[in-house]
Amino acid sequence: MRIAVIGSGYVGLVSAACFAEIGHDVISVDNDANKISALERGEVPIHERFLAELLQRHHGFRLRFSTSVAHAVKASDAIFITVGTPQSATGEADLSFVEAVAQEIASAICTRKVVIEKSTVPVRTCEFLRKSLLFNGAKSELFSVASNPEFLREGTAVTDFLYPDRIVIGADDEFSTSMLRQIYAPLASGSYYSCADTIPFSGRAFTKARAIITNAKSAELIKHASNAFLAMKISFINAVANISESVGADITEVCEGIGADSRIGPRFLNAGIGYGGSCFPKDVQAFQAVANQCGYDFALLTEVMRINTDQQKRFLAKIRSALWTLRGKKLAVLGLAFKGDTDDIRESPAIAVIQALLKEGAHVRAYDPAAIARTRHMHPQTAIEYADDAYDAATGCDALLILTEWNEFAKLDLGRIRSLLKYPVVIDGRNLYENNQMTEAGLIYYSIGRSVGVPAKMLPIVNNTNLDPQLHIPDSTREAAPVSY
Ligand code: UGA
Repeated sequence: MRIAVIGSGYVGLVSAACFAEIGHDVISVDNDANKISALERGEVPIHERFLAELLQRHHGFRLRFSTSVAHAVKASDAIFITVGTPQSATGEADLSFVEAVAQEIASAICTRKVVIEKSTVPVRTCEFLRKSLLFNGAKSELFSVASNPEFLREGTAVTDFLYPDRIVIGADDEFSTSMLRQIYAPLASGSYYSCADTIPFSGRAFTKARAIITNAKSAELIKHASNAFLAMKISFINAVANISESVGADITEVCEGIGADSRIGPRFLNAGIGYGGSCFPKDVQAFQAVANQCGYDFALLTEVMRINTDQQKRFLAKIRSALWTLRGKKLAVLGLAFKGDTDDIRESPAIAVIQALLKEGAHVRAYDPAAIARTRHMHPQTAIEYADDAYDAATGCDALLILTEWNEFAKLDLGRIRSLLKYPVVIDGRNLYENNQMTEAGLIYYSIGRSVGVPAKMLPIVNNTNLDPQLHIPDSTREAAPVSY
């Protein structure tokens, strides 16, 4: 199949590379000429496992780059729209990029095409897309529209695409359904998995992907509701973690007990400093805006957002309770990205916590395996001192904070960390360690939803519970998201 993918951001570039990988001829389009030139030169603009390999494998053969929507549309049978849908001032998704692309596509349609919305969009976007294509001169008999939401996570986007839990095909006509079925046939039939040189998958056993065929509106709802549900799962477990902490239970064991129920499942139950990234914060708000437009007050989502912002405030209170005053304290921070395995810092809880610490007069010495360059670029005014690795960050600092769940932060030489820190204090917003690992290294360990780990010889001087009045945030201090400190 000849495919155009309009928009070469995270979703677009990964989708284009993966469509080429499963055998299609793909043109990846972006209006940023610099980005396209860099891709032409073989540069990979994002930190994403297997992406460089796929681009190298297919560029110049089944994958080409272009800045021209018209050229890509004329040369393709299926056109995927993967441009950004940022948050507008009112919380709704701003669909102006989608509309602008639709206008360009419309004027280039001369033979039968299917135009497929893949960006995260509110329900009824396909309806507007169809209307926009017609208004801008596309003949109704020459196109169909469809929705095919993506469920890629940053960091595992390539394997999420190639080994999906489900492929959602939202189409209102046979032509679109059949085109999308053909496009995904290598995954739905399983033929891709028996090819030589497939991208490996180390998760569960995989034979073929499940296709869910539905109408466009249902497909659009599936995407927003999925993200909102996952965000709700995280906020729920964070709320339980706060109770767990107060009573001296252990949230990790609580999660194991909850997640063992197959109706709930163990995934996405990691308590921490809240969700971030370019998707959940924006999508939960956008989904709530959709509900409002439908006349439904989805107050549950307000609470999901409130718990998420409170999580950062509680973490700051925990730091204060561990270190007393923050002015002039030097804090080592591990993690800038919104989660591990990515260099993306958009809506990163780590950055929000750092900004709050700086505002309180602390000095921050930070390390992240991938996100330092991006942080320097996006926050040139933020007075962060950058370190070369975790140990360099810890050197001479009063305490170590873990803010992002990178694998390498879970494997630190804790004895070495102890010897480098001025005070023996680690405050972990991602629960990467067990209490005894830290205490055996002589470190006092604060985490989320668990009691404080205190080395035996320090027990007489350190309270090992989190029952600190500062951690109980009175309602009056709560603000609506987003919160600035
Ligand atoms: C999310 C969804 O997981 C994808 O399915 C979806 O396709 C994507 O949004 C999107 O709409 O494009 P992503 O934002 O890449 O993917 O990241 P996640 O792995 O979902 O993590 C989101 C945030 O939740 C991170 O800040 C992470 O640290 C946090 N998180 C995740 C937790 O705090 N606890 C958990 O148990 C899981």
